[in-house]
Amino acid sequence: LASIEVDLAPVAVGQAIKLNWRGKPVFVRNLTPTEIAEANKVPVSDLRDPQTLAERTKEGKANWLITLGVCTHLGCVPLGAAEGENRGDYGGYFCPCHGSHYDTAARIRKGPAPKNLEVPEYAFTSDTRVQIG
Ligand code: FES
Repeated sequence: LASIEVDLAPVAVGQAIKLNWRGKPVFVRNLTPTEIAEANKVPVSDLRDPQTLAERTKEGKANWLITLGVCTHLGCVPLGAAEGENRGDYGGYFCPCHGSHYDTAARIRKGPAPKNLEVPEYAFTSDTRVQIG
């Protein structure tokens, strides 16, 4: 199946969920205002893979961070999408395989991964429903 539709209404602020899409894990995170502010205060020029949070989310939906759960180093599944998991030094995701730290916009900040977690193609079909793929 090419695409999946997901209801985000049950995902509380600060919570993340892990989905499966085309055999790959997808992380959906409902960012808190603090996490959004943290992502926005980082100068883009400081980033290895320079992208703003706005470029990685949909307009008016900056709280919904949707990325593949595949580390861009060698493809492990990072931690941080489930309650209580290590979110790394930058509060986003942490890949335990070789220690890559992603920030609250899932951008690579430390460790060997070359790129930010990939944002898949997706669209909101209503205020809380999203179609991925
Ligand atoms: Fe994630 Fe190597 S696969 S740090």
